[in-house]
Amino acid sequence: MKIVITKSYEEMSEEAFRLVKAVVKENPEAVLGLATGTTPLGLYARMAEDHRRGGTSYRGIRTVNLDEYVGLGPGSDQSYVYFMRKNLFSHLDILPENTHIANGLAPDLAEECARYNRLLETMQQDIQVLGIGSNGHIAFNEPGTPFGSETHVVALAESTIRDNARLFAREEDVPRKALTMGLKNIMHARRVLILANGAGKAKAVCGLVRGAVTEQLPASVLQLHPDCTLVVDEAAASLL
Ligand code: GLP
Repeated sequence: MKIVITKSYEEMSEEAFRLVKAVVKENPEAVLGLATGTTPLGLYARMAEDHRRGGTSYRGIRTVNLDEYVGLGPGSDQSYVYFMRKNLFSHLDILPENTHIANGLAPDLAEECARYNRLLETMQQDIQVLGIGSNGHIAFNEPGTPFGSETHVVALAESTIRDNARLFAREEDVPRKALTMGLKNIMHARRVLILANGAGKAKAVCGLVRGAVTEQLPASVLQLHPDCTLVVDEAAASLL
């Protein structure tokens, strides 16, 4: 694993942007695997700004997102599909039909997982952007998720519900379930870029880099990926 320690969140976002832009420039039809959460916001702001000022085009780019809350759709400002439109897609010339995210409103969730898996098989990510949960989860793969997992429905860990409650009016509003790409789907990416900032991520980052490869810390599976880059700020790297 390649590790880049940066001085600040801004520098972390700049470095991530450099890596993602290189992929887009090298292959204008690349598949980008994208993440939600507060961590990649600086990256997405830079991609939007670069498109606006520098004209980098996303017309041939396709995207797949990691996860979505069950029960939330484009009409909810807490859904991940809404987040992606608001923070990234609406600022680019990407074609809406080329952006993919599991449907949290699907009437048959098992069928939706199967559909998303079939789609992922045809869309290997040229780069997969990831954040990390404070408990070491990636996407919504909570501790204990098998490394061989594919897209599935997950019951969110109590700690994840608490962490994510800050983005909802009340903790009771946080959905208890989500659809998530599995660890196998993430490991299938040609390249992985994992970002972390802030002291609250230090323990998980330490486990990711130095800990045992264990399903108890899902992100540790990335130690087995042939091309994974971790970009962290100093606070998140403080236990390394
Ligand atoms: C959520 C998402 C993850 C994300 C994590 C960290 O649970 N499903 O994909 O990496 O939270 O979020 P944040 O970047 O806001 O710290």
